[in-house]
Amino acid sequence: MMKSGERIGVHSHIKGLGIRNNEPLPVADGLVGQIEARRAAWLVVQLIKAGKMAGRAILLVGPPGTGKTAIAVAIARELGPETPFMALSGSEIYSAELKKTEVLMQALRKSIGVRIRERRWIYEGVVDKVDYKFDRHPLNPYVQVPVGGTITLRTEKETRSLRVDSNIVYQLLQKGVEEGDVIWIDEETGRVTRVGRAKGAANYDVGVRELVDVPSGPVYKEKEFVYTLTLHQLDEMHARSESLLSLIFGAPEYREIPPDVRAKVDKTVKEWVDSGRAELIPGVLFIDDAHMLDIEAFSFLSRAMESELSPIIILATNRGFTKIRGTDVEAPHGMPLDLLDRLLIIKTKPYTADEIREILKIRAKEEGVTLDEQALEELVRLGTERSLRYAAHLLAPAKILAEQRGKSSVGVEEVREVSTLFISTRESAQYLKEFEEKMLK
Ligand SMILES: Nc1ncnc2c1ncn2[C@@H]1O[C@H](COP(=O)(O)OP(=O)(O)OP(=O)(O)O)[C@@H](O)[C@H]1O
Ligand SMILES: [Mg+2]
Repeated sequence: MMKSGERIGVHSHIKGLGIRNNEPLPVADGLVGQIEARRAAWLVVQLIKAGKMAGRAILLVGPPGTGKTAIAVAIARELGPETPFMALSGSEIYSAELKKTEVLMQALRKSIGVRIRERRWIYEGVVDKVDYKFDRHPLNPYVQVPVGGTITLRTEKETRSLRVDSNIVYQLLQKGVEEGDVIWIDEETGRVTRVGRAKGAANYDVGVRELVDVPSGPVYKEKEFVYTLTLHQLDEMHARSESLLSLIFGAPEYREIPPDVRAKVDKTVKEWVDSGRAELIPGVLFIDDAHMLDIEAFSFLSRAMESELSPIIILATNRGFTKIRGTDVEAPHGMPLDLLDRLLIIKTKPYTADEIREILKIRAKEEGVTLDEQALEELVRLGTERSLRYAAHLLAPAKILAEQRGKSSVGVEEVREVSTLFISTRESAQYLKEFEEKMLK
């Protein structure tokens, strides 16, 4: 459920927190070192699963490139694929179309899943025979339209013929339902669903339909359906159905969700939960570069944490003391104290050369780059002296350079060359600073 492709790409090697028997392994699930932070993150996973995180949030702090985002991704992986995970950078709340609080509100609601269980009465079976009746179109005598028909459905247990109206015949024709297909017809709405082709009925060598079993039991039955939607999806569905225009022209692109729509959705969801029809699955909202949020956004988040329908919020920052945006107040991590009070803070530490080596090896494998030994050591040196991220960025261009030279692995020459072609942030800043000084003289 992550949004930004870049953010997934550089963390694609991370499969989990690398914990076995409640202890982090030095290298596992794509994660290296950072043992204390991973131990803390593992406890957070347990707290989330036990529902003990209410009113609190997590803050990951540490220098750039020390794995804060990587650990947040690992937490999400540990929570399982069903758990909604939404990632946002602090700067993304400043958009031209939406209010800051609306961006945050949507992000919060995209991070909460609602698993809905619904029992419906349906007709289910293999289509044995169809018999459609057509008549002239009431307005256009040259056009034939279906006016109804009979359909015979078969299960392991029985065979039933049903008389159906023109609406259902339309759907059957539109969906290309043929004899031998397994279908459902919803009793209340008349909606037709084609499930697949019954096993044994397929007489094609190549077919595109999924093969399914012939249903057992009676044709007319109550069936349970389970699906998971986020609160935001429910908001959008509700907002659309409210608008008459959407019925005529199709669904509009909804920018801002009216507050009364959210209130109604919340009320309905609560009723569903109370009556056992639905279950809430609080997910994770990860806000990277959280120091980019401003005072208004922070107080909005503090309030959100108090609400019953709140996801787990994980913030990350690499700033120490800095001004809270929108104020003149300096504060730890640029965050107001009432928010800081609610945070469990996890720190990440700079890596040793050995850890950098391990991370670069994993990244090289992930990106399909073969490094010879000296090339790896040169990258480790660059990673230690400049930054891990800088060294990792050099992998791809070094590979291209090696390929151009007809080499199957990257050597130290290629690494040295790309490191002069592409300079690190520190060097680029230094370069411009020297220029500025010259210009002033
Ligand atoms: N312990 C680790 N094990 C494996 N890979 C890691 C580890 N730490 C960082 N990485 C990888 O190194 C790169 C930089 O790490 P990451 O983006 O998580 O740093 P960050 O602390 O979020 O930095 P910033 O403050 O700049 O946002 C990423 O590709 C990340 O997946
Ligand atoms: Mg980060």
